[in-house]
Amino acid sequence: MKGIILSGGTATRLFPLTATTSKQLLPVYDRQMVFYPLNTLIKAGIKDILVIVSPEHSGQYLNLLGSIFKNHGVHLYFEVQKVPRGLAEAFILGESFIDDDNVTMILGDNIFEPDFSKEINNFESGGLVFAKKVPDPERYGVVKFDKSNKAVEIVEKPKKWISDYAIPGLYIYDNRVIEAAKKAQPSERGEIEITSLHNYYLNLGELKVSTFSGEWLDAGTFDSLLEAGRIVKEKKIYKKFDPMIDEAIAEFNEDLKALAKKRLL
Ligand code: DAU
Repeated sequence: MKGIILSGGTATRLFPLTATTSKQLLPVYDRQMVFYPLNTLIKAGIKDILVIVSPEHSGQYLNLLGSIFKNHGVHLYFEVQKVPRGLAEAFILGESFIDDDNVTMILGDNIFEPDFSKEINNFESGGLVFAKKVPDPERYGVVKFDKSNKAVEIVEKPKKWISDYAIPGLYIYDNRVIEAAKKAQPSERGEIEITSLHNYYLNLGELKVSTFSGEWLDAGTFDSLLEAGRIVKEKKIYKKFDPMIDEAIAEFNEDLKALAKKRLL
């Protein structure tokens, strides 16, 4: 299983904060947002992770993450997405990285409290996505279930209500996703939508949609960013990281301190 973190985009809703850095490098309590999706993948034992970033912020990602796990057995790779053409483009940009493997993609601004190790490790083929009841489904990709809880319809940001179940930014697919992404047509907003990929597997009868309990936070607005920091602190989510990540961050901090000391001499 390979991992992808999609961490590009322009994040205009967060201007002026994102005039100077990437949204996913903004702090959520005691660490940058991108560490949360990294944790979801690393906890599941994924060792090869591609981080897709925008050209403006590639240097900042390299400074923070370029060497941070080098002694910890996790290999990070970087790819620049020149223009944000849609979530599904990640699988086209990541084609040679994914190679013949399956892939789990997580959005750089999605924070999950639950551990998805079991789901990721037991995955065999097809597609596996998740669903969570929300009060504002029109903001998300939405899935409708029939009476036997089988997914029957998936729509990106439905204008007309179809269901209260949003599909969060964590997607597990087999290798066919690369071809599906290449065939996907841009939507009205000019993006190749992740929803097209869910529908590709749904039409084949090979998409599983699982509900889950625990927090899911999408930190894309001022309010949700503030709320994310508050919940991470209150529910002590920052204490539930894979110990390797905490170790790597501590080492990174020590290196910075040593450097600062040298500069003072
Ligand atoms: O948060 C879950 C939702 O994420 C899903 O329910 C939707 O189906 C999915 O389309 C997506 O909706 P958003 O409106 O939240 O997508 P957004 O454009 O905000 O992009 C999500 C993240 O991906 C964001 O951190 C920026 C990054 N991104 C986005 C695009 C379009 C990229 O890195 N490259 C891109 O081309």
